[in-house]
Amino acid sequence: MKLGVLVSGKGSNLEALLTSEASGALRTETRVVISNVAGVRALEVAARADKKNLVLTNESFSSREAFETALVLQLREHGVEWVLLAGFNRLLTSTFLEAFPDRVVNIHPSLLPAFVGPLAIRQALRHGVRQTGVTLHLVDEGIDTGPILAQAPVPILDSDDESTLAARVHAVEHRLLVETLRRIVDKGFALSRTSDRPRVVWND
Ligand code: GRF
Repeated sequence: MKLGVLVSGKGSNLEALLTSEASGALRTETRVVISNVAGVRALEVAARADKKNLVLTNESFSSREAFETALVLQLREHGVEWVLLAGFNRLLTSTFLEAFPDRVVNIHPSLLPAFVGPLAIRQALRHGVRQTGVTLHLVDEGIDTGPILAQAPVPILDSDDESTLAARVHAVEHRLLVETLRRIVDKGFALSRTSDRPRVVWND
């Protein structure tokens, strides 16, 4: 699986991916890491692992379409077949998604469809739910709405604040990310389109 990873921040999921890849525990091949924000830790994580990395900021392009076209070009130049959004903070449109149909995967820190958007951990805590979790899903044009690949729960403790909960959610993200990519590589899936929304059906 030739992967391109899009990032905007800390890069802890990228780190989990690259560690598993380097140890041979995961048969993916990260070809390039692209950040839309300069100077973020994720770029250091990529460089430390000797991965090609570059920055394409939103502001250097006159339109969203031009930005996404440049992203696609870079990913194609690096032979990328699958794209992982690992803390990438920008919505993608059909300009990008049509270049990698059903091959863009996102990690989200909640049990979707609950708590979409960038503040999912804070919202779960404020809402008083007793458990939240992690979802790996395919990306469509909505906000965290694409077909679900995998989910794992994370209990919320009375003693939790945002940082303790975030730490446990991130630990589960790292595990579920690696497990799910491994399952895609080893088994693969099909999309069932028998209902109004496409649904992931894993091959056995
Ligand atoms: C993670 O919580 C992920 O679920 C969300 O953005 C965060 C990225 O964290 N989409 P990191 O950059 O991988 O540390």
